[in-house]
Amino acid sequence: MLDIGCGRAALLERIAETHGYRCVGVDRNEHIVLDARRSLMNTELAERIDLRAESFDEAAFSDASFDVLACLEATHAVSDLRGVLRTAGRLLRPGGVLVVADGHWRRRPDEEYLAFLACSEDDIGTLESNAALAREAGFTVERTHETTDDEWSRYEDMYAANILAFVDAHPEDPDAAEFRTHISAWRQAYLAWGRTTLGFAVYQLRLLP
Ligand SMILES: C[S@@+](CC[C@H](N)C(=O)[O-])C[C@H]1O[C@@H](n2cnc3c(N)ncnc32)[C@H](O)[C@@H]1O
Repeated sequence: MLDIGCGRAALLERIAETHGYRCVGVDRNEHIVLDARRSLMNTELAERIDLRAESFDEAAFSDASFDVLACLEATHAVSDLRGVLRTAGRLLRPGGVLVVADGHWRRRPDEEYLAFLACSEDDIGTLESNAALAREAGFTVERTHETTDDEWSRYEDMYAANILAFVDAHPEDPDAAEFRTHISAWRQAYLAWGRTTLGFAVYQLRLLP
């Protein structure tokens, strides 16, 4: 299994433990990869999970070399959803599974929200158009889990709380003031537009043979 933008590699740990898979995780944030390696140290999972602190480079992997590929909230590590579908089409064996999580519009975005996000309406699909992209790329859509309002607001609450906890604990950090300004603006944008406009979903896709 390959996890692109694996973060702390929690998913790989669970898959290696429950299914005995050999796993590769790639994340360009060396601090979190180091943390993940530390937590695996001296466990039998360490030899089954290869964690690479680098920017994802598709050329490092051979055709049809994985049974499962995950890219959760990290499509930007490849380029976008289309890019992940293309990459997975090459790296998965026929019949292999792609688990990808990405955002989607739940309704047409307001101009002010697009300006806040600095993106255009076309940069993000809908639940239906994302599934259609997957089918065009040669996958069947086996499962879609759309984040519920409760999950989404719990995520946003934790995101804001984590950033505020960090800046309170590290007022001397050179990014502290910027983080504080960012999270205050982000929170307002979420309450004004985000929670009714943006959705998030996990798609389980299977590469057609
Ligand atoms: C929002 S986090 C998601 C982490 C993890 N997949 C999860 O679901 O918890 C996105 C991750 O993608 C990583 N990332 C961003 N660009 C990347 C790139 N070009 N190559 C590898 N990792 C990248 C970031 O360092 C970050 O850990």
